[in-house]
Amino acid sequence: MIYTKNVNKLIFSNEEKYKLYLGDCLEVLKKFDENTFDCIFADPPYLLSNNGFTCYSGKRASVNKGKWDISSGIEKDFEFHKKWLGECKRVLKPAGTIWISGTYHSIYLCGCVLQLLGFQLLNDICWFKPNAPPNISCRYFTSSHETLIWAKKDKKSRHYFNYTLMKNGIWLEDKLKKPKMQMRSVWALTSPKKDEKQFGKHPTQKPIDLLKRIILASTKEGDLVLDPFCGSSTAGIAAYMLNRRFVGIDIERKYIDLSVKRFRML
Ligand SMILES: C[S@@+](CC[C@H](N)C(=O)[O-])C[C@H]1O[C@@H](n2cnc3c(N)ncnc32)[C@H](O)[C@@H]1O
Repeated sequence: MIYTKNVNKLIFSNEEKYKLYLGDCLEVLKKFDENTFDCIFADPPYLLSNNGFTCYSGKRASVNKGKWDISSGIEKDFEFHKKWLGECKRVLKPAGTIWISGTYHSIYLCGCVLQLLGFQLLNDICWFKPNAPPNISCRYFTSSHETLIWAKKDKKSRHYFNYTLMKNGIWLEDKLKKPKMQMRSVWALTSPKKDEKQFGKHPTQKPIDLLKRIILASTKEGDLVLDPFCGSSTAGIAAYMLNRRFVGIDIERKYIDLSVKRFRML
């Protein structure tokens, strides 16, 4: 793990496979050269921690995730997304692609910023969670999906897509995927399983199956993957398992520590 405060320029050699930076990604990203990464997966703060309630293990629980998830109002949130996505565009290779995961609290702002910055949208994926918790207020529909946007650097760039594997691979964990049929944009994948949380909990941890699919679809072996909001580093664990290289950034020391624990068990 590297603290970035005293480092001016960040370089990632071909031999390095997994590196974590503790710091604010708005600062850390500036230290990388342009055109460094083959793929970016970003799961930015949802900015939904507004003292509301949800249901967790059948009980009423706060939706608050941490200080990092508090909204500063729509205009400032928009500026925040513009800043980190601007840096992502700079450090992404010309043929690279970016994935952003979010709920309605964040994903529309991110989608708008992506287009303003000249990215070209490729897909919006509905990640359907068959085991989503019930809605305790009973005043609106039960949230049971997140949206993932997949975009390439600009209109003209040629991106990589492992079409054959997505179509013909074995995807038993997904009840909606039919064998030998094209993979559709609705993916049914459950929330992280118990053993994925054996080293501690991250409040918005993504399932490893989701990240494996993303990495397999859009990168080749040896490619360099960036996650600027890595949390427990699900993207990094999937990347490493699939022989890709990984750089993760998180502002909270406890999540970097959790990422290290998860990595050590690989
Ligand atoms: C939605 S969570 C990511 C969860 C992750 N995908 C996982 O599977 O564990 C967002 C993460 O971004 C981190 N974060 C928030 N603001 C940040 C910033 N400005 N720079 C870097 N990390 C930040 C939070 O600490 C949190 O762990």
